[in-house]
Amino acid sequence: MGVLRSMYKKNDPIAMMTAHDFPSAHVADAAGMDMILVGDSLAMVALGMQDTNEVTVDDMLLHCKSVARATKAAFTISPEQALATAIRFVKEGRVQGIKLEGGKEMAPTIKKIVEAGIPVLAHVGLTPQRQNALGGFRVQGKTSKGAMRVLEDALAVQEAGCFAMVIEAVPAEIASVITQRLSVPTIGIGAGNGCSGQVLVQVDMSGYFPPGRTIPKFVKQYGNVWRESLQAIESYREEVKSRQYPAPEHTYPIAQEELDAFIR
Ligand code: KIV
Repeated sequence: MGVLRSMYKKNDPIAMMTAHDFPSAHVADAAGMDMILVGDSLAMVALGMQDTNEVTVDDMLLHCKSVARATKAAFTISPEQALATAIRFVKEGRVQGIKLEGGKEMAPTIKKIVEAGIPVLAHVGLTPQRQNALGGFRVQGKTSKGAMRVLEDALAVQEAGCFAMVIEAVPAEIASVITQRLSVPTIGIGAGNGCSGQVLVQVDMSGYFPPGRTIPKFVKQYGNVWRESLQAIESYREEVKSRQYPAPEHTYPIAQEELDAFIR
């Protein structure tokens, strides 16, 4: 966490990425991510669920453990809302901190978890776990009143002791002003370039999702891993069907006399 604090002080942008299993964590760590979030967005992008409310603590713990086995450098974070479960995530899931969605109303919980010695990454603006209460995946802070609410939330979670906060789906100018008014880093997602860092959902930015999934406007898709994977698997299928695979170089040798003795 000291590293993140010193990056923030030097105005060095913090790069954060989600991961949900060993390979996705390994690649994010190898690419030099500063923080890896075992986000509960894995409910949709890795488990095919409708929303994040469907995923259980036990599901999340399994994913945290596999991510923790892969991460060497990055600071790993998982979502949680209650102190008892936050402790389980740190002890069993081997994450270094937890992320908690919500503003003012979550400040007492954040305080309690921080006082127990667990670093908390807060999450304000659009909070996907409360999408129903917020009227769906809607941009937050688009009016002066709405923007004031996001600022008040940000100040409340800062006061409660979070070490940083995600700001999601807020106009860039508002996120930038909020960032300047705070003394902890902001990690933007759909919140413009004035935040202290950025986070994206790995399957969205790498294009590892089947055709037809709509990704949010703020996502820049840097690759098409699904297409690469499809091409590789189709080639494998064709080579199996045409008996091109496995070729001799993919087999184990046996000495001729051993073979002859076996066949005889
Ligand atoms: O759960 C998640 O992946 C998140 C990111 C969208 C920040 O909260």
